[in-house]
Formats: sequence, structure tokens, C-alpha cells
Amino acid sequence: MRVEPAGAVAAVEIENSRYLPSLVCLDDDGRLLTGRAAVQLAAQRPERAEQHPKRALLRQSAVLLDDREVATADLAAAVLARAAEEARARCGGTDPGRVVLTHPADWSPGDLDRLVEVAGRAGLDAPELLPEPVAAARFHAANISANASANISADASANAPADGDGPIAVYDLGGGTVDTAVLRREGGGYRAVAVAGDPDFGGRDLDQALFELLRDRALDLDPGPWQQLWADPAPAAAHQRAQLARELTLAKESLSSTGTVYLAVPGYPEPFVVQGGEYRAAVTPALTASVGLLERTVARAGLTPAELGAVVLCGAASRTPPVADLVAARLGRIPDLAADPKAAVALGALTDPPAPADAGTATGIHAEGAPEAGSGRWTVAHYPDEVDPELWL
Ligand SMILES: Nc1ncnc2c1ncn2[C@@H]1O[C@H](COP(=O)(O)OP(=O)(O)OP(=O)(O)O)[C@@H](O)[C@H]1O
Ligand SMILES: [Mg+2]
Repeated sequence: MRVEPAGAVAAVEIENSRYLPSLVCLDDDGRLLTGRAAVQLAAQRPERAEQHPKRALLRQSAVLLDDREVATADLAAAVLARAAEEARARCGGTDPGRVVLTHPADWSPGDLDRLVEVAGRAGLDAPELLPEPVAAARFHAANISANASANISADASANAPADGDGPIAVYDLGGGTVDTAVLRREGGGYRAVAVAGDPDFGGRDLDQALFELLRDRALDLDPGPWQQLWADPAPAAAHQRAQLARELTLAKESLSSTGTVYLAVPGYPEPFVVQGGEYRAAVTPALTASVGLLERTVARAGLTPAELGAVVLCGAASRTPPVADLVAARLGRIPDLAADPKAAVALGALTDPPAPADAGTATGIHAEGAPEAGSGRWTVAHYPDEVDPELWL
């Protein structure tokens, strides 16, 4: 993420993409590869790859990649350092004016210490830390007029009147986790008053649901080629499996905007057709459970849905069609799908909180503990994420 001269925030593209995969892979010389090079090598040598550096960081101090022990802080630092290096290169080699790292709201002080250690190993000293839902709420507040209500079937009259100072509920469905929070305006910022999440449910489970639909279809038609594809230890077969996994993810994402996807599987003469309706039916139970978390978080905050100023959806997987419908049905509120759900947290991390309604022209209020905006030319936002999906910077 860089801050342009006029103060606008822009993503730094890495390898022609706004998103950098968080997977890390050890090469023949013992270096930690990131980005596409890591993805390509991991397809051939999965035993050398760590798919989820963030999860590994919190669970253990080291992992075995092939036969070499690698500190998990180094894995996460490799991703952050890559992003920082690319940002520096685009800003004439200057150092960042601020470093803001976002983190799940329920991370413990020990987890946050690990994050600061990672930043240090990546050469990013003294990072500011900001809970992700706080960043999402800041982004929402800054974009409130631009945000269109999610295109869902619920009656718009079910929405409570917009209240810029009302509590905000955040539902964040990412690649590996779902997190919900309720935030209250306090002073010049937001404070999380209730938080809940499922560290084991995210977009990759939706990939898995689509995979299972495809598998059942293939096995019904002819089990031979499918079984061969998954049993074959040859590198060519590993490559085909990795390619199929990538295509499944893309197909899943396009099912958020198109009705049907076609998936070619090696060994089958025709592509398999998956209809949006069957995919939605397959994922609705798990998504319903995730929206149940949001309901419970609102209740734990001592609020009814009608008392919320807004319900904000972020995380790229929250684009999955049933999500907005389920939130509307369960909470009776039309949610706001963040303008750029994948980037909402990172962009919000670089957005100042709105001034309170009764604060007149007060500025520079940062009740969340964040210092005033720096004058430096670029800023890193976000922590080393899990996934297959990507680290957003
Ligand atoms: N248009 C889309 N429709 C549905 N899912 C999508 C879409 N675009 C991306 N995704 C999915 O969103 C997930 C990534 O979301 P995001 O980038 O918000 O996660 P993350 O912040 O990296 O992960 P986490 O928050 O779990 O640590 C992936 O599973 C990806 O396939
Ligand atoms: Mg996320």
C-alpha cells in the first residue's frame, strides 16, 4: 500500500497483481521464496512449502520444510519483507513513514508480540497495530456514501435509519477464517465490544465444497480418471492437481457473479458443469453457521440488530451470494458489502477514524491508540496472511 502525494491510498502491484500469495516455499539454496515463484515451486515440491504462515506463526515456533527447520517468524517475515521491498522500489527507495499492521481482534498480547517480532525481522520497526474490524469500520465510515447496499432480496425498509455514530457490526469472511465484531464509537475511534470468530472456516472451505461437487460428478461418470489423477505421484500429475485447485478457486469466485461454471478435469473428454444453485445449496449450511456467529456477537454486545448503525461485510469471500441474503434474513438488516471487500481492512488501516458527530471540526483524534498520520511516502498495511488466497498490502 502506498500513500500518494495527494494523500490517496493506492495498492502496490506485485507481479501485476494487487495481491501477494502468503504461501512461502524453500528453494534449493535454502532461500525462502514468496509470490509466484513460491506457488510454482510448491506445486512441484509441496513438502517444502508452508501454505499458512500466519496460522503456523501462532501455533509453533518452527516448521519442517523438507528436512530443514525454519522459524515461523521467518516465514511470515519473508512475505512482509517482499511486500516492503516492492513498495520501497516504487517509492524511490524511501523507507515507510508509517507501518500499520492489522490483526484479528481477538489476538492475545503474546500474539501481538509475535507480530511485532515478525515486522522487525522484515526490517519494519515500530509498527502500529490495529484490529481488523476497527480498520473495516474506518473504511466503511469513510466510504459510507459510496457504499451501495448489497444486492439482495430483502426489503430495504427492513434497514434501520443510517446512524453514522451507531455501533457497527463487522462480518469478515476471508480465506481461512471468519471473524465477527461489534464496535462502538468512542471518543474519536472505534472500540470492539464483542468479538467472535471461527479460525477453521473460510473461503477455502467453499473451494472444498465445490471440489466435492466436482468429485461426485466425476466419480458418477467414470471413477477411473479421477482416481488416477489423485493417486499418481509423478510431478506432471502434481502439476495437474495444482492447476485444478487454482481453477476451482477461480470458478468459485466467478460463481459470485455468474450462474454456471465449466471445469475441465484431466482424463475426461468434456468439462463438468456446475450450476450456481447447486453450489449455493452446498455452501448455505456452513455460511448460515457463520452468520449465526454474527448474531451471537451482536447479542453479546447487548444490542439488537435494529440498534446497529450498520452491518458491514468484508473479506473477499463475503461476496459469495448467500452471505448477504443470510445476514438480511437472520438480522433483518440489509448489510453493506464493502466497496472493495478484499481490501477494506488494508485500506481502512490507512484511513483516519471519522470525527465524532459532536466534535465539530476536531481533527487528529485517534482514540484507538493509533498515532497521527505520518508524513512518509508509503505505508505497509496488513499482516502476513494465510492462504492460497493472498496477502493484501
Ligand atoms: N468474488 C469472490 N467471490 C467469492 N469468494 C471470493 C471472491 N474473490 C475472492 N474470494 C475468496 O476470498 C478468500 C480470500 O479472502 P481475503 O483476501 O479477504 O482473505 P484473507 O484476509 O487473505 O484471509 P483471512 O482473513 O482468512 O486470514 C479466498 O478464499 C478467495 O478465493
Ligand atoms: Mg482477512
